[in-house]
Amino acid sequence: MNIPTLLLNPRYNDRYFDVVDAVAEAKRIHIGNARIIERINDIVNNNVNHSINIGTDKNRFRIGELGFGPGRLLLALIDSLDAVAVTVEPVIIDYNTVEMYPIPAERVERILSVFSDRVRVASRIRNVVDAYSRIDIETPGPHSVAVPGVGGGIVVNLNLYVGEAMEMVESLDAPRAAWFLDGHAPKENPDIWRPELLSAVGRKTELGGTATAFTVAGHVRRALAAAGFSVAKVAGCGGKKEALLGTFRL
Ligand SMILES: C[S@@+](CC[C@H](N)C(=O)[O-])C[C@H]1O[C@@H](n2cnc3c(N)ncnc32)[C@H](O)[C@@H]1O
Repeated sequence: MNIPTLLLNPRYNDRYFDVVDAVAEAKRIHIGNARIIERINDIVNNNVNHSINIGTDKNRFRIGELGFGPGRLLLALIDSLDAVAVTVEPVIIDYNTVEMYPIPAERVERILSVFSDRVRVASRIRNVVDAYSRIDIETPGPHSVAVPGVGGGIVVNLNLYVGEAMEMVESLDAPRAAWFLDGHAPKENPDIWRPELLSAVGRKTELGGTATAFTVAGHVRRALAAAGFSVAKVAGCGGKKEALLGTFRL
């Protein structure tokens, strides 16, 4: 496979994402299939109808990601938030992610800039890079920064854990509403799809919470099922006909 150097993660001899339209792919496979925007809109509507929710946990939507890389999934999420109804009371999105081999902010910017011909995304790239550049990636462990410029009454906290995925998953103090599993192809990086890790993901997922992945590999589906998810093959994107959606049932 001929991978452009900019997109190559040499640790895994794999690309961070496909160049074709990786933001559209993220929106379909992770945001669309897991109904992230609809679920955040439900929070907004609940706030309007039940002001008692304000200031409680019900104002939060918690996402977990395995494999931050250059932050394309965060970019796609932020670029999708325009479809959330404007909310007077803030909705807080906690975006907890992990990266074992963080790359410098300049490289994140160069990689994400491949999407900058899309006008709406261009300012979003700045927001993600601004947030990421405030993190000291040389220091292992948790880091937390707010992503600027999101608007619409939504606050997005980027909580990046520099280290191994299991450490981040186990460090979470609250279960996630949604997981984006995006840690390279299983063949290139079997570790991030190991059953113990996916089982830990299950333990840190709300009832009805989701896990999405671009791979439909049998062993990944089986490990997610063993972790408590009911697993379905759903619509993929572009050349990828199928993707994976797990819904936590246990
Ligand atoms: C496919 S890339 C992530 C792409 C990113 N989600 C995006 O959309 O831009 C996978 C990332 O997971 C990281 N990674 C792989 N195994 C890991 C592990 N066991 N713990 C933490 N990070 C890991 C890699 O270094 C790589 O940056």
